[in-house]
Amino acid sequence: MKVHVYEKAWMGACVVLIIVFVSTILLTSWTMRMHPPSHMEIIDPAKVNDDPRFANPGVTVRADGTRVIMIAEMWTFIPNEITVPAGRPVTFRLTSPDVIHGFEIVGTNVNTMVVPGYVSQLSTTFQHPGEYLIVCHEYCGAGHHTMQAKLVVTGAGS
Ligand code: CUA
Repeated sequence: MKVHVYEKAWMGACVVLIIVFVSTILLTSWTMRMHPPSHMEIIDPAKVNDDPRFANPGVTVRADGTRVIMIAEMWTFIPNEITVPAGRPVTFRLTSPDVIHGFEIVGTNVNTMVVPGYVSQLSTTFQHPGEYLIVCHEYCGAGHHTMQAKLVVTGAGS
């Protein structure tokens, strides 16, 4: 069977593209800690406000790390502004009482979906103090484009 030279070229191009894509995934995973959150925890979306895990949304700073509890709902994050210290681990825990939202801290490796019925959890360490924009990146209705919050990362030790 004879394979046309153009067909061979396109097959070669596909193999090269696949190698580039897989290499990009592995490289960003190893060097920039870009990987999907793997936490699995369920919650009743109709009872988020009564659930002790989400009774007090906000930031708790401890010596060994910071914990942030947030609720993503149409069309805001609760709380809407959070402050965490730089240079120490921060663990985010989020859930949604209504529809699917997104949670991305622009310019960092924090990026997850917030799915009703589940608790999204991920950890990171912010190295650079400053103000960061938090956005919802899953279309969640008429107010989606207004759904944002602010993260302030303070200098280590302050
Ligand atoms: Cu919440 Cu888009």
